[in-house]
Amino acid sequence: MLKGIWLALIPLALMAQTAPPAGTNTANKYVGSEVCKTCHADVWLNFYKNPHYKSIASGKETPERTGCEGCHGPAGNHVAARGGKATIGAFSNFTPDETLTTCLSCHSKDVSRASIRNSAHTKADVVCSSCHSIHKPATPKFLLAKQQTELCYTCHASQRAQFEMPSKHRVNEGAVQCSDCHNPHGSALSAGSTTQHMGGSSAALQPAFNNEQPCLKCHVDKRGPFVFEHAAVKVEGCEGCHVPHGSTNAKLLTRPVVFTLCLECHNGAGTFGRSNFSVFRTSPAHNLQDPKYQRCTLCHIKVHGSNSDQFFLR
Ligand code: HEC
Ligand code: HEC
Ligand code: HEC
Ligand code: HEC
Ligand code: HEC
Ligand code: HEC
Ligand code: HEC
Ligand code: HEC
Ligand code: HEC
Ligand code: HEC
Repeated sequence: MLKGIWLALIPLALMAQTAPPAGTNTANKYVGSEVCKTCHADVWLNFYKNPHYKSIASGKETPERTGCEGCHGPAGNHVAARGGKATIGAFSNFTPDETLTTCLSCHSKDVSRASIRNSAHTKADVVCSSCHSIHKPATPKFLLAKQQTELCYTCHASQRAQFEMPSKHRVNEGAVQCSDCHNPHGSALSAGSTTQHMGGSSAALQPAFNNEQPCLKCHVDKRGPFVFEHAAVKVEGCEGCHVPHGSTNAKLLTRPVVFTLCLECHNGAGTFGRSNFSVFRTSPAHNLQDPKYQRCTLCHIKVHGSNSDQFFLR
C-alpha cells in the first residue's frame, strides 16, 4: 500500500529532478507513449504513419499492448532514470530470440502457418528486425528495411546472378518477387507435400492454393487435373525438369537439350517410364539416329499433361 503511493509520486519526483537512486528495486510501470515524445521526438514524429500507431489511436488496448511500450516494455524506470539503455527493452541489447519472442507476442497468428521457429532464417539468427525496420522502413507496406529484392540480396548475393541468366524469372525487373515463391518466415508446406512436389526441397516455399507447389499460382495451365497426366510432373514436380531461378538453358530447363532430359527417365532402364516396354529399342518410330526424333517436344507438345492424347501428342 505504502509502496503504491510512493510509485505514484515518481512523476512528481521527476519534475523536481530527483530520480530514485540507481539500484532501487521499484516495480516497473507503464507510462504511456505521450511521455516518450519529449526525448525521442524523431521517433515519435513519424510514428503516426506506423501501423503500430493503431493501438494508440484506438485507445482500446491494454497498456502492455499499446504504442511504444507494446514493444519496448514498461518505461516507468526508464523515464524515472531520464533515459539509458539499461532501463528499457532496447532491441540493440536483445538476443535474436528475445526479439523474436517480443514480436511474436502479437504476431504469432500472422506467421503461425510458417512454423517460424523452425525456419532456416530463425536457426541462422535472422529474425524480424533483420528484415523489418519499425522506425525507418523503406516500404510503408510491410515495414521492410529495404525494397524486397534488395533486402534479400544483401545476404543472398549469388541469387542475383541467377536472375540475370538468359532464361529466368524476371525478378530483377520487378515482374516476379522472391515472396511469390518463398515465405521468408518459413515453409508453410506440410512435410509430406514438400517431398512429393518440390523435389524434396524445404526451401521456405510459399504454397499456392491448397498446399500445391508455388509455380501453379501463376502457371495455372500446368495445374490439371489432366485426363492423361505425365507422371513426371505429378511425382517429381516442376523441379524434375526446371530450375526455378535462372538457367543458361532455354525455358529454365535443367538440361541444355530437351531429349537428354527426357532420356534421363525414358532410357529403358528397369521399368521406370517404360509403360512395360522399352521405348527406344522397340519402337522403330523412335530411331534416335534420326535427328528428327531427338526433338521430342515437337511431337509431344503437351508434355505437362493432355486432355486428349495419352502420349501427349496434342
Ligand atoms: C512494433 C514494435 C515497436 C514499437 C511499437 C516501437 N518500437 Fe522503437 N524500436 C523497435 C525496434 C525493433 C527497434 C530497433 C531498430 C529497428 O529495427 O528499427 C527500435 C528502436 C528504437 C529506438 C532506438 C533508436 C532508433 O531509432 O533505432 C528508440 C529510441 C525507440 N525505438 C523508441 C520508440 C518509441 C518512442 C516508440 C513509440 C513512439 C517506439 N519505439 C515504438 C520496435 C518498436
Ligand atoms: C527524459 C528523456 C527520456 C524519456 C522521457 C524517454 N527516453 Fe528513451 N532514452 C533516453 C535516453 C537518453 C536514452 C539513451 C540513448 C543512448 O544510450 O543511446 C534512451 C534510450 C531508449 C531506448 C534504447 C534505444 C537503443 O539504443 O536501443 C529505447 C527503446 C527508448 N529509449 C524508448 C523510450 C520509450 C518507449 C519512452 C516512452 C515510454 C522513452 N524512451 C522515454 C531518454 C528518454
Ligand atoms: C503489441 C502488439 C504488437 C507487437 C509487440 C508487434 N506488433 Fe507488429 N503489428 C501489430 C498490429 C496491431 C499491427 C497492425 C495490423 C493491422 O494493420 O491491422 C502490426 C503491423 C505490423 C506490420 C505491418 C503489416 C502490414 O500488413 O503492413 C509488420 C511488418 C509488423 N507489425 C512487424 C512487427 C515486428 C517486426 C515486431 C517486433 C519488433 C512487431 N511487429 C511487434 C501489433 C504488434
Ligand atoms: C528474411 C526476412 C524476414 C524476416 C526474418 C521476417 N520477415 Fe516479416 N516479412 C518479410 C517480407 C519480405 C514480407 C513481405 C511479404 C510479401 O510481400 O508478401 C514480410 C511480411 C510480414 C508481415 C505482413 C504480412 C504477413 O505475412 O502477415 C508481418 C506481420 C511480418 N512480416 C512480421 C514479421 C515478424 C513478427 C517477424 C519475426 C517473428 C518477421 N516478420 C520476420 C521478411 C521477413
Ligand atoms: C540478414 C541476412 C538475410 C536476409 C536479409 C535474408 N536471408 Fe535468407 N537466409 C539467410 C541465412 C543465413 C540462411 C540460412 C543459411 C543458408 O541457407 O544460406 C538463409 C536461408 C534462406 C533460404 C533457404 C531456406 C531453406 O529452408 O533452405 C531461402 C529460400 C531464403 N533464405 C530466402 C530469403 C528471402 C526470399 C529473403 C528476402 C525476403 C531473404 N532470404 C533474406 C540470410 C538472410
Ligand atoms: C519462381 C519461383 C522462385 C522465385 C521467384 C525465387 N525462388 Fe528461390 N527457390 C525456388 C525454389 C523452387 C527453390 C528450391 C530449389 C531446390 O531445392 O533445388 C529455391 C531455392 C532458394 C534458395 C536455397 C538455395 C538454392 O539456391 O537452392 C535460396 C537462398 C533462394 N531460393 C532465394 C531466393 C531469393 C533471394 C529470391 C528473390 C531474389 C528467390 N529465391 C526467388 C523458387 C523461387
Ligand atoms: C508470380 C508468378 C510466377 C510464379 C510463382 C512462377 N512463375 Fe514461371 N513465369 C512467370 C512469368 C511472368 C514468366 C514469363 C517470363 C518472361 O516472359 O520474362 C514465367 C516463365 C516461366 C518459364 C519459361 C521461361 C522461359 O525462358 O521462357 C518456366 C519454365 C517457368 N516460368 C517455370 C516456373 C516454375 C518451375 C515455377 C515454380 C518454381 C514458376 N515458374 C513460378 C511467372 C511465375
Ligand atoms: C517432364 C519434364 C517437365 C516437367 C516435370 C515440367 N516441365 Fe515445364 N517444360 C518442359 C519442357 C521440355 C518444356 C519446353 C517445351 C518446348 O520444348 O517447347 C517446358 C516448358 C515450360 C514452360 C514454358 C512454355 C509453356 O508451355 O508455357 C513453362 C511455363 C513450364 N514449362 C512450366 C512448368 C511448371 C509450372 C511445371 C510444374 C507444374 C513444369 N513445367 C513441369 C518439361 C517439363
Ligand atoms: C523425371 C522422369 C521423367 C522425365 C524427365 C520425363 N518423363 Fe515422360 N514419363 C515419366 C513417367 C514415370 C511416365 C509414366 C510411364 C508409365 O506410365 O509407365 C512418363 C510417361 C510419358 C509418356 C506417355 C507414355 C505412356 O505410355 O503413356 C510420354 C509420351 C512421355 N513420358 C514423354 C516424355 C518426354 C517427351 C519427356 C521430355 C520432355 C519426358 N517424358 C520426360 C517420367 C519422365
Ligand atoms: C516425330 C514425332 C515424335 C518425336 C520427335 C518423338 N516421339 Fe515419342 N511418340 C510419338 C508417337 C506418334 C508416339 C505414340 C505411339 C508410338 O509410336 O509408340 C510416341 C510415343 C512415345 C512414348 C510412349 C511409348 C509407349 O509406347 O508407351 C514415349 C515415352 C515417347 N514417345 C517419348 C519420346 C521421347 C523421349 C522423344 C525424344 C527423344 C520422343 N518421344 C520423340 C512421336 C514422336
